[in-house]
Amino acid sequence: MDSLNNNPTILVVDDEPELCQALSRLLQRSDYNVLTAGDGEEAIEVLRDNDIPVVLTDLMMPRMGGVELLKAAKVVSPATEVVIVTGHGTVETAVEAMKEGAYDFIEKPFTKAITLNTVRKAFEKHMLLAENIKLRKLLEEIQGGDDIIGKSEIMRRVIETAKQVSRSSATILLLGESGTGKEVFANSIHRWSDRAERTMVKVNCAAIPESLLEAELFGYEKGAFTGAVGRREGRFEAAHGGTIFLDEVGEMDNSVQVKLLRVLQEGVFERLGSNKPIEVDVRVLAATNSNLEQRVEDGTFREDLFYRLNVISLDIPPLRLRSGDTILMANFFLKLANEKNKKSVTGFTRAAIESLRNYSWPGNVRELENCIERAVVLCKGDTIDIDILPANVLSGRKRTEEITIQVGTSLRDAEMQLLQATLDSCDSDKELAAKILGIASRTIYRKLK
Ligand SMILES: Nc1ncnc2c1ncn2[C@@H]1O[C@H](COP(=O)(O)OP(=O)(O)OP(=O)(O)O)[C@@H](O)[C@H]1O
Ligand SMILES: [Mg+2]
Repeated sequence: MDSLNNNPTILVVDDEPELCQALSRLLQRSDYNVLTAGDGEEAIEVLRDNDIPVVLTDLMMPRMGGVELLKAAKVVSPATEVVIVTGHGTVETAVEAMKEGAYDFIEKPFTKAITLNTVRKAFEKHMLLAENIKLRKLLEEIQGGDDIIGKSEIMRRVIETAKQVSRSSATILLLGESGTGKEVFANSIHRWSDRAERTMVKVNCAAIPESLLEAELFGYEKGAFTGAVGRREGRFEAAHGGTIFLDEVGEMDNSVQVKLLRVLQEGVFERLGSNKPIEVDVRVLAATNSNLEQRVEDGTFREDLFYRLNVISLDIPPLRLRSGDTILMANFFLKLANEKNKKSVTGFTRAAIESLRNYSWPGNVRELENCIERAVVLCKGDTIDIDILPANVLSGRKRTEEITIQVGTSLRDAEMQLLQATLDSCDSDKELAAKILGIASRTIYRKLK
């Protein structure tokens, strides 16, 4: 039986021909294309040769059983969803199979309704997954395979740390000037986490009036305040099982801070106008470009909340400290702007590259992105020259780069900071950095280890 139409295809695996036929008939009547196999090994062959979104398999079969088939299917065809059919007394094994990644199981004797419903949901899950994979591929193509653009030493380190901490459910505070990419990092951390398939809710705390923020985050009951005409669930409830991104987290009044602290500590809060505790499992990512420590000193931000948020913090460096990334990013934004504006600008003149590299980018990556898009739109030929770069970019004096080393820093750390900043300022050219620092390039390799 080959799939000659656009109907979804399902593979039914059972060693009992009657059962196989009964299932096939049921599914065919609901417009599925059905392929069949008499055991696990045969099923694997079919999976190898065909694009099969969903497999419906018996658990107990000679040679290769359902669980083994499931494991093999995940290798041969990772996007395929497997539904297990199980008899009496084998439910435990079916549960085991769920842990191995089966989509669901159906108990014998199965009803028509349950079978069709489970199969339909398995197809939906497959579609979602396939769509996700497609989108991610497209994004990767545009971004050249990596999530966050940046190859400078300093960015590599931040990206590596972000990857490491993304796996846990720990709260992470993203720090950095405006436009450095805090939200980009938040997105990636969610995507790298085991919550990636769950929802990510974003709240810009500065964009919501202070008086409404509490209701927005935690929800309210009917009549909780004037205007609360019905009950409404808050953003924390909406994020249950997933991630919440609290942007501009410094911008909340004391009562919201208290509630946030409690969610972070106990995973519990109440809707406004209710005293029924609601439990949630939410991973919190927070970002700010303001100096929270200063706010703690001023008394406008709770110290306990600050420490709770700051358990793991990531400093996203400003673009001027990673000038090695400027041209890399400029080329990326060039591609994006070409696509967006249906243009085909191929690159930059030498002089343009010089200017882009020497400017200090106070607006960071966002400023660079806007600058490149504007240039692409204005560009008449196929390369961007200095005549279409903004005046401030051109007048940017040759940057004298600085780093600040606090008193009390160990010599080793101070040396490392200087080393990294120097490397970044010469595009990670270790020979050149060694010359500038007056040491042998071998010494640089050794210290970087
Ligand atoms: N490493 C990066 N790779 C690709 N694009 C980036 C990167 N960093 C930033 N961008 C882009 O730059 C712009 C600004 O980034 P983002 O919004 O994450 O900054 P932010 O730190 O949250 O800024 P703000 O504090 O103003 O909210 C976005 O359009 C983003 O896509
Ligand atoms: Mg932001």
